[in-house]
Amino acid sequence: MRTPEHPGVHVRAPGKINLALRVGAREPSGYHPLATVFQAVSLSEDVVARPAEGLSLTVEGRGCDLVPVDGTNLALRAAELLRTVTGTTAGAALQVTKHVPVAGGMAGGSADAAAALLACDQLWGTGLDRRELVELGAELGADVPFALTGLTAVGAGHGDVLTSAMSRGTYHWVLALQDEGLSTPRVFAAFDDLLEDEPPAPEVDEGLLAALLAGDPHELARHLVNDLTDAAVDLMPALDDVLAASARAGALGTVLSGSGPTVAALALDAEHAASVAEVLRRAEVAAEVLVVTAPAPGARVLEPVRAPL
Ligand code: C5P
Repeated sequence: MRTPEHPGVHVRAPGKINLALRVGAREPSGYHPLATVFQAVSLSEDVVARPAEGLSLTVEGRGCDLVPVDGTNLALRAAELLRTVTGTTAGAALQVTKHVPVAGGMAGGSADAAAALLACDQLWGTGLDRRELVELGAELGADVPFALTGLTAVGAGHGDVLTSAMSRGTYHWVLALQDEGLSTPRVFAAFDDLLEDEPPAPEVDEGLLAALLAGDPHELARHLVNDLTDAAVDLMPALDDVLAASARAGALGTVLSGSGPTVAALALDAEHAASVAEVLRRAEVAAEVLVVTAPAPGARVLEPVRAPL
């Protein structure tokens, strides 16, 4: 009797925002030392991996036209890397459904890679543990390990050396999304160009970690910071209006996420978030305004994919 074909594995992985992003001087490798606090949000990516000959990819959802579907795609590269290190000859058809903006500073591509790693590992029965998946993730990009672990974490090194951060309660964020993305390497290059003096070694402020531990959004708002803000505004001057409108919309605090252009505004609770979002929508500075909650869990397998009837 023929064994029924595996119906596939569905994995969800979160996008992130950076509550703090401190950046040091460019290293000879081209990378910058970072001290950052990541928080995973309820806006996430879905990847379904189904059995197939070889590797293939389809992408749908928010901004899918901007995503490469060739060998440079990070989810495909993740599957390819897993094949190489485990020696499996199994294949997969990957279906990515995007919700996180493309090139938005929220690590959507990294979430795709994290989800693809976990989905293929389950589909192929290659049995890597979390630590091994995180190590493979770091080879694909600095933000991939965090998409696997989720919640709230301090990132050192290039953002890929993670320590989990204790955080109490749920945070309510209003995200101002743009249609146009920003290239991370270009933002880091603009950061280098704008530097006048050698920046100090990056460090995360203890006050921010204390605010998270206390679950105090007012205190957290006072510590939001992103050293890439001026560089991102330099490349996309309209971002200044987004930041100003977010500050005027009555949020507790605002911060650029990663290398932008997504701006995150912190609200007190769900009701406050809805009203900040409404003010921001009326200001017409964003292509889309969304309310999300955080922290969200890292990449996880959802209920089994049903076989088509
Ligand atoms: O690791 P990832 O592929 O996400 O990084 C994209 C680019 O962003 C790098 O090639 C580098 O130019 C820049 N970058 C950096 N310092 C970091 C992380 C990224 O300069 N810590």
